[in-house]
Amino acid sequence: MPPGTDMAISHSTHFVRSLARQMFVCIPVLAIIFLAVPSDATEPDSPTTRSLPKGELGRVIELGREIVQNTANHPLSKPYVGNALHCTSCHLDAGTHPTAATFLGIATAYPAWSPRENRVVTLQDRALNCFMRSQNGTRPPVGSEVAVAVTAYITWLSTGQPIQQNADFPLGPRHVPPLADADVAAGGDTGRGGELYAEHCASCHNDDGLGGDDGPPVWGPRSYNDGAGLSRVPKLAAWLKVAMPLDDPYLSNQQALDIAAFVNRHDRPVFRLQEHLPAADKMGQYNGKSAAE
Ligand code: HEC
Ligand code: HEC
Repeated sequence: MPPGTDMAISHSTHFVRSLARQMFVCIPVLAIIFLAVPSDATEPDSPTTRSLPKGELGRVIELGREIVQNTANHPLSKPYVGNALHCTSCHLDAGTHPTAATFLGIATAYPAWSPRENRVVTLQDRALNCFMRSQNGTRPPVGSEVAVAVTAYITWLSTGQPIQQNADFPLGPRHVPPLADADVAAGGDTGRGGELYAEHCASCHNDDGLGGDDGPPVWGPRSYNDGAGLSRVPKLAAWLKVAMPLDDPYLSNQQALDIAAFVNRHDRPVFRLQEHLPAADKMGQYNGKSAAE
């Protein structure tokens, strides 16, 4: 029985007034209980069961989810993608995987400081920059339908989480944990990495790394370019530890570094910023009412 219900019944003559009074008491009490429980335990984030907001906002969030799952093919995102990958190729389960570059909770970190850009960046900037590097494509215009949809979806995945803007990195509270400095300093061995790749990865990503029915390309012209986060060996190793082999990540730090060194030794598109920026008049769009409306 919800707290206070018994009181409402015993004061049945003043039922309505009493109920109203109790709601005044109960709502703040519930709010305090809710805020006091650590966010991990309350986990309002069950994007698979939570319903979408009503109306146009819900529709745009759903559109964003479709784009994240099918970025290379969706008509709104395809023009901005230059490889075979989708956002979900790395942000597994459309960003709802708890560890593999999760989108859960990340909207709380923005606007955040980005050492790479030497600027404070918004969540939209951060998402659009992944198009230039990880997707080897072009940055969609700020305020464009694709930019708004993807950002709306990602923001919705942070529902109920407290704002905690990140002053150090453009990363959310559950970002991929970096490997220990000592392991990174020891580096990876491409020879051992090749053997491990053949054993643990090639069944899905192919011996030639160009992917197939069971996994996307991990090197070559249809993979991420050398400006992407994963093109750095320590970053790829840290991501592999929590993401691959798919559904059963079990690599040791050393194995992850060896495989990462082997994978990233191969050719992939070269990143030159100028080639990935949109034309000046396509940098942004006015995202509001037109004068005619
Ligand atoms: C090749 C892999 C790859 C692809 C494809 C990719 N990303 Fe990322 N993205 C990453 C990695 C790795 C990070 C850093 C995550 C971390 O360290 O936790 C990242 C970070 C981000 C962040 C910041 C995360 C945070 O914790 O604040 C956003 C937002 C983002 N990506 C959006 C996108 C979107 C939108 C797409 C599709 C258009 C996309 N990414 C495609 C690899 C990728
Ligand atoms: C059971 C099949 C399977 C195995 C085994 C596997 N992967 Fe993957 N991998 C995938 C799939 C599928 C994706 C894309 C995820 C999605 O779309 O849901 C992926 C994504 C990736 C990505 C990011 C996208 C890209 O193509 O660059 C990298 C990097 C990667 N895997 C590397 C590895 C490495 C290294 C291993 C071995 C340690 C490995 N994978 C083992 C299936 C697999």
